[in-house]
Amino acid sequence: MKKLVAILLAGTMAVSLAACAAAAPAPAEPAAAEETAEEAVEAAEETAEAAEITTVEPGVLTMATNAYFPPYEYYEGDAIVGIDAEIAAAVAEKLGLELKIEDMEFDSIITAVTAGKADMGLAGMTVTEERKQNVNFSDSYATGIQAVVVPEDSDIASVDDLEGKKIGVQLGTTGDIYCSDDYGEENVEKFNKGNDAIMALVTGKVDAVVIDNEPAKSYVAANEGLKILETEYAVEDYAACIAKENTALLDAINGALAELKADGTLEQIVGKYISAE
Ligand code: ARG
Repeated sequence: MKKLVAILLAGTMAVSLAACAAAAPAPAEPAAAEETAEEAVEAAEETAEAAEITTVEPGVLTMATNAYFPPYEYYEGDAIVGIDAEIAAAVAEKLGLELKIEDMEFDSIITAVTAGKADMGLAGMTVTEERKQNVNFSDSYATGIQAVVVPEDSDIASVDDLEGKKIGVQLGTTGDIYCSDDYGEENVEKFNKGNDAIMALVTGKVDAVVIDNEPAKSYVAANEGLKILETEYAVEDYAACIAKENTALLDAINGALAELKADGTLEQIVGKYISAE
């Protein structure tokens, strides 16, 4: 029913937009007239596209994330900013939807999506076979690396040295999953936020933290006496997760991502937050 209303509304808007464009008096500058008409058509198309997509709240793209993951999502005052936040805003704009970001524990994101509380999870989330059992993933928009953070004077020099050590991770992340598998649950200390794991490392409660490379870099920059090991634990793909049944939204997001890749927007957003080495 909600969807039907959205379609009707969008139809009306498209018609009135087209009417405006047609009824507009001939402007002095013909090029400007062309642009206006084109823009009107584009806007109408976007509205029409938005109408075909069913979202949790009509007209709104609800994104579930865990905003303690710089530079992908983090707080700047009350606002959630970062690469994912900006990509989501650009995608929402392309789809003619308003973006709403919901901050939650990382471990709750997939449930929020499958339970119909959020339209997509965008959280530097790694595509894994296990997660694919529950959600669909969009095309990948970034590469992630599981990195090992240790105190500067640590005797841990490579991933292999993690054996028998206390490892801090963020609950439910791939770092948690891999370390629990490789080194045993009893050696893995799970924290709700990546930053809490880093604090445990700073205060000597754990010997190492396994976390994504980019947040690792900002945590190491913000805390004295830490370093990132050169050996990488794992290389992975980040993507948006979407409820299995909402294939229209999956297609729309993939379409928007492809456009953002093609026109350089994606690169520009990433470049704003991550300086090329
Ligand atoms: N890439 C890792 C994973 O998918 C960690 C992501 C954590 N993201 C966050 N926003 N806290 O498991």
